[in-house]
Amino acid sequence: MYTWKDIEQYIASCARCPLSQTRRLPVMGRGSHSADIMLIAEAPGGQEDLEGLPFVGRSGKLLDELLKSCSLTRDEIYITNILKCHPPGNRDPKEAEKEACISYLKYETFLLKPKIIVCLGRVAAQRIIAPDYKITRQHGTWTNRKGCFMTAVYHPSAILRDPSKLDVTKADFREIVKKRDELRTAHL
Ligand code: URA
Repeated sequence: MYTWKDIEQYIASCARCPLSQTRRLPVMGRGSHSADIMLIAEAPGGQEDLEGLPFVGRSGKLLDELLKSCSLTRDEIYITNILKCHPPGNRDPKEAEKEACISYLKYETFLLKPKIIVCLGRVAAQRIIAPDYKITRQHGTWTNRKGCFMTAVYHPSAILRDPSKLDVTKADFREIVKKRDELRTAHL
């Protein structure tokens, strides 16, 4: 049985794919290890690569705005990425990179046992929920897999490119908190 510390150490010295040669710092997930809600995005950006922490750049600021709009804080959720290393130029992760990295996400999920998984953006939704996931049409809808409720919302960087997506994403986040509260009540 691996611990959080074990996973962090494996990620810190990982050389399973060529991104380990171009990254500055690997980026492990962060947040509460007893969170009900797990956010999964695709890969660290440039600022995350410098700081070794998820969502610390412009997208992170927008994510904080979304969280604040539904009274969530980073301390009560867990945020991670499929890839733990930054793809140069912010390109989409390659299949081989996702395959090389996915076991770290599986360990994080196994240890956390979230009640709700929220994919941030198309790339995460297509890897985690369904390969043909259409973020424009399906964001905010729920899939129940083995008792874990999964949904996806627009990636913060998509909202930065197109601010008209902000309000609908705030509404999706309100529904996520509602679902968490329903699940908590059901388990009382
Ligand atoms: N974008 C991502 O997908 N992940 C991060 O950690 C930061 C930006």
